[in-house]
Amino acid sequence: MRIAVAIDGPAGAGKSTIAKLIGEKFNLMYIDTGAMYRAVALMAKRNGISEKEVEKLSSLVKSLNMKFINNKLFVNGEDVSKKIREVKISNIVSLYATVSEVRSLLVSLQQSMSQKYNVIMDGRDIGTVVLIDAPFKFYLVASPEVRARRRFNELKNKDIEVSYESILKDIKKRDYIDSTREVTPLRKAEDAIEINTSNLTIEEVVNEISNHIYKKVN
Ligand code: CDP
Repeated sequence: MRIAVAIDGPAGAGKSTIAKLIGEKFNLMYIDTGAMYRAVALMAKRNGISEKEVEKLSSLVKSLNMKFINNKLFVNGEDVSKKIREVKISNIVSLYATVSEVRSLLVSLQQSMSQKYNVIMDGRDIGTVVLIDAPFKFYLVASPEVRARRRFNELKNKDIEVSYESILKDIKKRDYIDSTREVTPLRKAEDAIEINTSNLTIEEVVNEISNHIYKKVN
């Protein structure tokens, strides 16, 4: 059976951790679409292109060869996995993600990846746009404070110094931009299962999603 799993939700809801684990469990290729938007922001910044320069931005995106190898993102042969997580990229990525030309190029790329492999994708528009026919759709939510605390601990473990308050502010700002943008804003697909992860462990969320998958597959 062809499996495609869509996981959407705001920053810090646990999407990438959960998607990686479910991917391993069901032998699915994990595609982190947020990393692709982050890569666009990184390359645009390097080339001095603002989110308002739509033509330049489109040519830039077309020139990027993005590949996931062992959950790392390579852009034109360079491993950008670490650089795209820096706070300066988190602060600007959502602005680039509002540009419809950028979105349609990345969405096509994501759809072509899903045609080649059994995938689990996480992002903001996977269940509503990218994998609209996916048999499994989940929407993860948690309070902004819980999400900021998780992101804070994650960065602290990586020795990245940043305050809890600034993360909370960034998360709230991105929630706002992502859910109010004109082009395909963040929202739950009608057929997605919503899971509030605020008081759940990673294992509990993985089990809940796995049970839904088993139910349909068996
Ligand atoms: O990991 P985190 O939840 O902080 O964010 P991410 O998944 O890396 O995504 C970074 C940003 O890219 C989001 O805040 C969105 O603005 C944008 N994004 C999007 O618009 N559509 C997607 N499918 C994935 C990400």
